[in-house]
Amino acid sequence: MVDYDPFDPVHVADPYPAFARLRDESPVYQVPGRGYWVLSRFDDVHMALRDHETFSSAKGVGPEPIWAPALITTDPPVHTRLRRLVTKPFTPRAIEATWTERVSELAAAFVEPLVGAGVVDAVESLTWPIPVQVIAEMLGIPTSDLDAFKHWSDELCNGIGGHLDPKMMERTAAAYVEVYAYLEEVIAARRGTGDDRDDLISRLLGGGDGDESLDDREIAHFCILLLIAGNETTTNLLGGMLLTLAANPAVWSALCADPSLAPAAVEEMLRFWSPTQALFRQTTADVTLHGTTIPADSRVMLAIASANRDGRRFDAPDEVRLDRDPNDHLAFGNGIHLCLGAPLARLEARAVLEVLIASTSEITVAGDVRMADNFMLRGPVKLPLVLAPRTSG
Ligand code: HEM
Repeated sequence: MVDYDPFDPVHVADPYPAFARLRDESPVYQVPGRGYWVLSRFDDVHMALRDHETFSSAKGVGPEPIWAPALITTDPPVHTRLRRLVTKPFTPRAIEATWTERVSELAAAFVEPLVGAGVVDAVESLTWPIPVQVIAEMLGIPTSDLDAFKHWSDELCNGIGGHLDPKMMERTAAAYVEVYAYLEEVIAARRGTGDDRDDLISRLLGGGDGDESLDDREIAHFCILLLIAGNETTTNLLGGMLLTLAANPAVWSALCADPSLAPAAVEEMLRFWSPTQALFRQTTADVTLHGTTIPADSRVMLAIASANRDGRRFDAPDEVRLDRDPNDHLAFGNGIHLCLGAPLARLEARAVLEVLIASTSEITVAGDVRMADNFMLRGPVKLPLVLAPRTSG
């Protein structure tokens, strides 16, 4: 009998052994004492992500329906309208055109000082500042407010897959109120002055015609969603990538020998690491899978991290391979909620990797790594590393 509870610290520390057992022995599993169900095989998670009618997002995508930022927690037709209004600046082409140069600059500015600097905490100096800076610049938020942004983002994420501890929930709710008030002020000030800048908030304020635009409340919720969906996830991808490269010197050597493999490496890090480990849905009808029926109105955990290590889909799923082709992982979800920020996250990871390849000969873990206490968002919160400089000639 598999005994799995996603909040169990043993599984939070290393979820993969339990996922392997769930996939093999109990692919439709109900968590004792919590009531919700877990789907762990690639085909089942993929199916549920694509079937938004049966697997609804409207009651939230975490274990408990705690808050409801727009877009990610909506079903069609609301979702269709909101998504249409925010798609343009996030297309791969728009992101490449607008952000490639700036993201490369930031990657160099944050990575290069760490090379040859002895032991550094890569989370503090690299993996969190880059995504938070990019999102603040994208929104047009003063970079002097970055620490507050980071604090809100942490508190909001802790409330997702951290603890269902009432104190944590209160802090998450408080952070939501604070960040909402902050954004409301930013938006009102922009409206008041007609300050038309070249940033996302101005674009959202000016966007669309009549009914086809977002109101201030929707804009504030969307900005909060970017903060939650785009910050910690990218930090976790960067941290996971550094840890994985340190643990796999042959992969690092292959990348240094052929830097054109960087995009393939980013895809493999996304699959192997799965920064968003799981998402939740609510069933709108009975669903029968592998002979077990999940009743309507059940909460279902879609274990993305498990799907991405399913040997039924991926050869040698626990190995990091740069030649995986196709690499159709579910790290960014699938279906109508497919990650809006995927092109940006890919760009950030690629830029960091390229600077590392150009500057660093070896990545070594140099102390205790501390992981986030969160079963939905996996990544290091403390990552002592030594980046040895590449000697030229
Ligand atoms: C490695 C980094 C990232 C990962 C692993 C990730 C993962 C995901 C996943 C799995 C979903 C699907 C949620 C669902 O189906 O319920 C999603 C949605 C979303 N992501 Fe990302 N994300 C990342 C980075 C970003 C960034 C950088 C942004 C924005 C700047 C962003 C914005 C969004 C938004 C707005 C949605 C909701 C889309 C919708 O509901 O239509 N994400 N993300």
